[in-house]
Amino acid sequence: MDIAGYLESQKEQLGKSTKQVKDFSVFDFNHVPDEPLIREECKELIKEMLQFEISGIANHVSIIGSRGSGKTLMLKYLQGVIPTQTDLEIVYVNCRHHNTSFKIFSHLVDGPTAGASLVELYERFLAKYQKKTVVVLDEIDLMSPKDKHREVLYTLSRSEQPYMVVMLSNSPHVLKQLDAATRSSLQPIPLHFKNYNAEQIQEILHDRAQNGLRSWNRATLAEISALTTRFTNSDARVAIKTLKYVTIEPQEDIRSCFERARRDIVVDMVNDLSDGNLMILWAAATSKSDLAKPIYKRYCRFSLSQREKPFSYVHFYSNLSYLQSSGLVALISTKVDRAYTNRVLLTFDKAIAVSLCELRFG
Ligand SMILES: Nc1ncnc2c1ncn2[C@@H]1O[C@H](COP(=O)(O)OP(=O)(O)OP(=O)(O)O)[C@@H](O)[C@H]1O
Ligand SMILES: [Mg+2]
Repeated sequence: MDIAGYLESQKEQLGKSTKQVKDFSVFDFNHVPDEPLIREECKELIKEMLQFEISGIANHVSIIGSRGSGKTLMLKYLQGVIPTQTDLEIVYVNCRHHNTSFKIFSHLVDGPTAGASLVELYERFLAKYQKKTVVVLDEIDLMSPKDKHREVLYTLSRSEQPYMVVMLSNSPHVLKQLDAATRSSLQPIPLHFKNYNAEQIQEILHDRAQNGLRSWNRATLAEISALTTRFTNSDARVAIKTLKYVTIEPQEDIRSCFERARRDIVVDMVNDLSDGNLMILWAAATSKSDLAKPIYKRYCRFSLSQREKPFSYVHFYSNLSYLQSSGLVALISTKVDRAYTNRVLLTFDKAIAVSLCELRFG
């Protein structure tokens, strides 16, 4: 192949298609649009915040919604608008990056925190946030199992200062895992972000196209939305990435752009998993049997070969539930020898789990 010629033609092609884009930030998953699509469920959250502002009494809220259902975006957006129109402060922490109570408080207070105790950090937090404050804890299900009691929740819900906690997660299991004392003082209102329908996904895409592209085609947006709602849990990320591929690689058909986007998102998700969860996926991908017990045994052997203490069977199962709520596996109840167990099915190409596992563990 004539490499120079190939490079030349690719550059020309890319140059032409990127001219269609006037603002690449619309494809950035962290981009907060000026006017996001506001879902009905959000109105209830806003109402709770306003009542908190008036009364100083907090109803805590737990938002559950599948991947790409706009949880993070909604709270980031509210963090921008609510403080300008009310007397509330909103602070945001992602528990994926700050995964213990200590790290959460450290992130929220100023100055060095090494060597401080949790109580000291909490006192610094009280001193810094004296106004009515909404504390958003995103991806709360990713707090470390080492912080079993999630003390941050207990502490904030018992505080004499006015704090409202908003927790975001993919799975309702996180609430079941709380100990009785925390649950009874927190008593969060559950809010479920339903999966977007095709019209909503299309509206989200339309807004991105209007702000970021020079030209687009309504029928293309409609087709991407239909594919996204039909073949993913309405993950808006897949739709946005498909729009990007369709725009910068117009020679590809929409279906293959969609498949590529979906694969990219799965690779990102699997890459973000903890070591334990990745090992579980590997065991499910390579086991001869798809029943939970043999997969557990296979996972244990792999974990030990990496000098990692494997999870107990109960803990293994709660990780399976997490993987299910992330949409990476499907658990299907089945009867074997008069007892019920689960079949564990991967919802994506097994080769992805195997190769990412090889990359991580060698
Ligand atoms: N209502 C909306 N309006 C505009 N864009 C949206 C909307 N909902 C989601 N998006 C876009 O879709 C992408 C995914 O949204 P977001 O990160 O908020 O999902 P999430 O529910 O937090 O997912 P996860 O559970 O994986 O954290 C982001 O780029 C976001 O900007
Ligand atoms: Mg999120």
